[in-house]
Amino acid sequence: MRLIHFTDLHLQTSQMHAVRAICDKECPDLVAITGDIMLFSSEKAAAEQMPLVQRFLEELQRDFPVAFCSGNHEYYSRDHAFGPLSLFCADGQSKRLTRAGVTVQVTSFPFDPTFAALPDVLAVEKQNMGFAHKRIWLHHEPPLRSATGWNGDSYQGNPILPMLLKQETPDYLLCGHIHDAPFSGGRTSEAMHGVMCCNPGATEGQFEFAEQPPYILIDLKSDDVVWHGPVFSVAKP
Ligand SMILES: [Fe+2]
Repeated sequence: MRLIHFTDLHLQTSQMHAVRAICDKECPDLVAITGDIMLFSSEKAAAEQMPLVQRFLEELQRDFPVAFCSGNHEYYSRDHAFGPLSLFCADGQSKRLTRAGVTVQVTSFPFDPTFAALPDVLAVEKQNMGFAHKRIWLHHEPPLRSATGWNGDSYQGNPILPMLLKQETPDYLLCGHIHDAPFSGGRTSEAMHGVMCCNPGATEGQFEFAEQPPYILIDLKSDDVVWHGPVFSVAKP
């Protein structure tokens, strides 16, 4: 069973087309998109973007199971919130999927600057939990003090997550938010309390958006985690 992970597309049309082309080529069993698919600049822009983004996600879902969690750009657009997303797993949901003899429990934690949603979604996961070989969490922010949240100057991330990872020990935390992590001396994947944290990054920030977004491919049987993206390098943390 293979999972492909994208993040922080920020409404780059060429990247959204590239996501589709990469998925068609790689034929993953599950597509994870960890938020900031929008580019919040104004309420008007949010209202215009929302239907485009919803259509992109639901068209992808026609051919692949899609798991999506919201990021800060969706959070600040929330007055123009998505309608109910017809995806395999969206904000606040926890679902199971079996492919190629591997069963995964996938849980989507929405971005929430108050962190109040984390325990609520954890309760949803526990209610829906059945047998699973792997437990996968999606959350936009990396856990604080992970190299997947190193931006070249400091560690950024969610301060509650390290404790939750230690307590709950899911197998994977798929995140994003810190675009520069792969390019600033941070890491695209790193274990924290035995949980493999993954952030493909985004080619924006120090660099222009590239035509193709970086992504991570995970083989959920062998636990091989492979990052695909352009290579830049700055200072190490
Ligand atoms: Fe972002």
